Amino acid sequence: MMVSPSSIIIILSLLLIDLLSASWAATDDSIQDRFYHCINFNTNVSIPFSEAFFTPNNASFSSIFQSIAQNLRSLDQSRSKPELIFTPLAESHVQAAVMCAKDLGIQLRTRSGGHDYEGISSSSVKKSQFVMIDMSKLRSINVSIEDNATWVQTGATIGELYYRISEKSKILGFPAGLCPTVGIGGHLTGGAYGPMMRKFGLGADNVIDARIVDATGRILDRSSMGEEFFWAIRGGGGGSFGILLAWKLRLVPVPPIVTVFTVSRTLEKGATKLLYRWQQVADKLDENLFIRVLVQPINSTDHAATRKTVFIGEFSNGFLRNRTIQTSYQALFLGRADRLLQEMKKRFPELGLVQEDCIEMSWIESVIYIALYPRNTPIEYLLQGGTVYNKSKFKAKSDFVKEPIPEYALEGIWKRFFEEDTPLAIWNPYGGIMSKISDSEIPFPHRKGTRIMIQWIIKWQNGDEERTAKHIDWIRRLYDFMTPYVSKLPRLAYVNYRDLDLGILDEKNNANHSSVLQANIWGPKYFKHNFEKLVFVKRKVDPNNFFRHEQSIPTSRLVRWK
Ligand SMILES: Cc1cc2nc3c(=O)[nH]c(=O)nc-3n(C[C@H](O)[C@H](O)[C@H](O)COP(=O)(O)OP(=O)(O)OC[C@H]3O[C@@H](n4cnc5c(N)ncnc54)[C@H](O)[C@@H]3O)c2cc1C
Ligand SMILES: *[C@@H]1O[C@H](CO)[C@@H](O)[C@H](O)[C@H]1NC(C)=O
Ligand SMILES: *[C@@H]1O[C@H](CO)[C@@H](O)[C@H](O)[C@H]1NC(C)=O
Ligand SMILES: *[C@@H]1O[C@H](CO)[C@@H](O)[C@H](O)[C@H]1NC(C)=O
Ligand SMILES: *[C@@H]1O[C@H](CO)[C@@H](O)[C@H](O)[C@H]1NC(C)=O
Ligand SMILES: *[C@@H]1O[C@H](CO)[C@@H](O)[C@H](O)[C@H]1NC(C)=O
Ligand SMILES: *[C@@H]1O[C@H](CO)[C@@H](O)[C@H](O)[C@H]1NC(C)=O
Ligand SMILES: *[C@@H]1O[C@H](CO)[C@@H](O)[C@H](O)[C@H]1NC(C)=O
Ligand SMILES: *[C@@H]1O[C@H](CO)[C@@H](O)[C@H](O)[C@H]1NC(C)=O
Repeated sequence: MMVSPSSIIIILSLLLIDLLSASWAATDDSIQDRFYHCINFNTNVSIPFSEAFFTPNNASFSSIFQSIAQNLRSLDQSRSKPELIFTPLAESHVQAAVMCAKDLGIQLRTRSGGHDYEGISSSSVKKSQFVMIDMSKLRSINVSIEDNATWVQTGATIGELYYRISEKSKILGFPAGLCPTVGIGGHLTGGAYGPMMRKFGLGADNVIDARIVDATGRILDRSSMGEEFFWAIRGGGGGSFGILLAWKLRLVPVPPIVTVFTVSRTLEKGATKLLYRWQQVADKLDENLFIRVLVQPINSTDHAATRKTVFIGEFSNGFLRNRTIQTSYQALFLGRADRLLQEMKKRFPELGLVQEDCIEMSWIESVIYIALYPRNTPIEYLLQGGTVYNKSKFKAKSDFVKEPIPEYALEGIWKRFFEEDTPLAIWNPYGGIMSKISDSEIPFPHRKGTRIMIQWIIKWQNGDEERTAKHIDWIRRLYDFMTPYVSKLPRLAYVNYRDLDLGILDEKNNANHSSVLQANIWGPKYFKHNFEKLVFVKRKVDPNNFFRHEQSIPTSRLVRWK
């Protein structure tokens, strides 16, 4: 039988339709399946699904999702959760994830330590579909004593980093955060301050190289990314420029013995006057000395027993209570107690520090102390990544202070603190080398002229919407009350204490004018004039805005400041 050319065409087309419908079937598959197949197609090391991919119906999904979520608000019903959690086992998997997410048109969110204050590394406050890249399996740390440097993969915590450094040397350390469970991945993207900042600056000031997967899926290091890109990732905030794989850090010298203390004062013992005095001296002390103040209400009958105790745990919901404000001065001094006592006698005698208050120890032991872990916690605990405190829901805000806050305003704070169950404020001194580093050296702009940073926190246990709203309303009112006493035009904030009250970017379309106006509000608050340069770098390295979230750096040209 003769087959006409037209019937061949028909047969061919039928075949084609078959083929097409087969590929339709493939695209009909869930995002999870498509992402998984794409990743395997794009990597040489094939990955068993069960080891690295977790969908919401997997038994282990919620435990992985919750494991390191610090703010339990990220678990709220109203938040969008990931369609899939992918835990890369090799750097090339991260590259594949970027390429596959682009191909499939799905957003990526990256989580390292999960300490984002608004939980946006793992959840979204808007309706959105995304895959979460969980870096927890990429956490190697290679300390090199020969060059006083270390490479650390971004899935590691800062506690692990500190431990690995101390394992190799008792006289080297790294100047980053106080809470050991914070992830080095997100931490250094926002600055990273801690008790050695007055001597050595921020963690981000001590980054000497980095490896990042950019929006095209390439792995770049400092020399291939160039100095502008390298500038932006050290302080410009997480989740805007790429996925960091590893940091190379400069280690700093620490003495074999350091000294710590905690001395508390309540209102009855002159706490208000003392805090005013501390504000005058804290940024002018010897740069080896860092004294922060934790402020919280306590039961006044307890105060005799609390001179050396800091409570950050729970207080119950009583009605009328005899409460007072406790101010706890917690310090690290990079030296021995005798020198510390001399400095205190000369510069801050009002605290009344005595020999018995001082505890000498190694730097790594001071990490446990400053983290407020119980005194006998072994340093190996830093490797476990667990926290001794129960997690809660919280809302926090930050403020920068240029002039001491007067006593009558401090009394206004106390009044507001008595309205709540478990409010906390942490006052951190600046000065020292922080005043000597230029405010555009890296995107973190809070340098010369900054006396103190205050962090305001309100915590609560799982509760209903109404209770949540009450707490959030309380901290917003406190923030309003503080307006006259803190930085202005713009009112500055620390990007690592992310606060979505400052504005949310329209994720889909950041060219949208009102959305860009929003970014113009929070951008300069976090970065001052550096915001403009961040937008410039963003446009260059991620013009299609692949890496984005509620407060990522926008690409729009409309952004102007000043
Ligand atoms: C209990 C607690 C204590 C803290 N103490 C301090 C402190 O002492 N000093 C201080 O400076 N800060 C402190 N912080 C704030 C902390 O620095 C920030 O929350 C930081 O962003 C956390 O990093 P992470 O990796 O743990 O968080 P994540 O939630 O994993 O990430 C935070 C942000 O960075 C992005 N990100 C994460 N990993 C990567 C990556 N590999 N590449 C690119 N982007 C990434 C995320 O998408 C997200 O936007 C503390 C926070 C908490 C909850
Ligand atoms: C796979 O391995 C080959 C040979 O080593 C290499 O050329 C190729 O780039 C690799 N592909 C991926 C996606 O890693
Ligand atoms: C997750 O679910 C998939 C099926 O959707 C299954 O193949 C896989 O083994 C599960 N993984 C785990 C860790 O439970
Ligand atoms: C540390 O060294 C090992 C072995 O050479 C290597 O596989 C790993 O990637 C290194 N880690 C970092 C963060 O450089
Ligand atoms: C490393 O640090 C130590 C201690 O500060 C110092 O003595 C040494 O010279 C440094 N080595 C290099 C190569 O910088
Ligand atoms: C404080 O006092 C209240 C009521 O008097 C009590 O219920 C609560 O347990 C006390 N808190 C602490 C930490 O002692
Ligand atoms: C507060 O303290 C006073 C004096 O110590 C005591 O008489 C009073 O009963 C206390 N009130 C409460 C509510 O505990
Ligand atoms: C932490 O939570 C557990 C279980 O809810 C509780 O038993 C324990 O007392 C809490 N610990 C602290 C320090 O609040
Ligand atoms: C623009 O962004 C604002 C703020 O995020 C949003 O309210 C508005 O709906 C957006 N408009 C358009 C047209 O997308």
